[in-house]
Amino acid sequence: MSFVLNSWYVAGWSEEFADGLIPLEITGQRLVLFRDTGNTLFALEDRCPHRLLPLSKGKKIGDTVQCGYHGMTFDGSGACVRVPGQDNTPERANVRAFPVVERHGIVWVWMGDPSLADPATIFDIPEMCDPAWHMHHGGHLTIRAHYLNVAENLVDPAHVSFVHPTTLGNAASEDVPVHVSTSGDVIRAWRWIRNAPPVGFFKEFGGFSGHVDRWHYYDLHLPSTAVIDFGSIDSALQCSEDDRDAGVRIFAIHFVTPVNENLTIDHWMHLRNTAAEKSAGDQIDRLLEMAFEEDKAILEAIHEEEQRPQTRRPVRIAIDKGPTVYRKRIRERIEAEAVEHLGEPVAPVFLDVTQ
Ligand code: FES
Ligand SMILES: [Fe+2]
Repeated sequence: MSFVLNSWYVAGWSEEFADGLIPLEITGQRLVLFRDTGNTLFALEDRCPHRLLPLSKGKKIGDTVQCGYHGMTFDGSGACVRVPGQDNTPERANVRAFPVVERHGIVWVWMGDPSLADPATIFDIPEMCDPAWHMHHGGHLTIRAHYLNVAENLVDPAHVSFVHPTTLGNAASEDVPVHVSTSGDVIRAWRWIRNAPPVGFFKEFGGFSGHVDRWHYYDLHLPSTAVIDFGSIDSALQCSEDDRDAGVRIFAIHFVTPVNENLTIDHWMHLRNTAAEKSAGDQIDRLLEMAFEEDKAILEAIHEEEQRPQTRRPVRIAIDKGPTVYRKRIRERIEAEAVEHLGEPVAPVFLDVTQ
């Protein structure tokens, strides 16, 4: 398995979970999400402990979920509160509950050991609450690809010149070296392209026509949230690396959620330090959507090829520093979790809960 489980993953935007029972899959585990009458969101394993019917095929009744086969009923904590045909509600007939937190209109679910779920570790950046910045939820991309390939693409500025030649990149950046550094759980890859014509995005959004200095900082927060800080500023201003707020600066944020080994959902949003009006957010959506479709096409084609027999190992080149560090760190996290799980008891075949 290639998933980090002890982590918060984005299940979607809050408004997507308005009503009913919503089935989802994250890290190969199926969930059903629902709100109780007080509007609190819960996530349960989407599988009745009796005959394994997904609970999402049942009914929401008040604050509970009733299985659609024989009516066993569960509350938001996963506890069984009713078994039709018997008086007791056995503790062991429960379903697993996954911790859920909503913040900035984003729904996060913890997929690993619930005792380790700490909301303080949910991704957050000060600009999300800063009135000088404008936050805009974008959409989501469903990509038939492995999440490691999707996340790796988000710590890889070198692809921009080739995959996005008319939107985010141009030929001026083809041979500009990429720098990589790591600090804690963040891997950063970045580069500046100085004194070059503006790319399509900043011609249209920033209104630049003369030469600009352009930057791309890709911060990948383990396991799979990426913040891409990109922007442009008039080259005549000789902007220093730390003074990017003086230019037109945008953060594109990607929450990469592994659905399973073959499917990934990338919820994306953006923040900008300019143009408060909502139409600017919609304009950025349109420009980014074009670029993200370009990434999706590449990633799906790679995934398809990866399913075919391999005859040699892929080569690594100089620009791969970010992706290489990323994969190594993910491997370490997965190995650490595997060690933690050694010694779990073997599951019994069934539990008798009739008394
Ligand atoms: S399968 Fe759910 S109650 Fe029987
Ligand atoms: Fe891209």
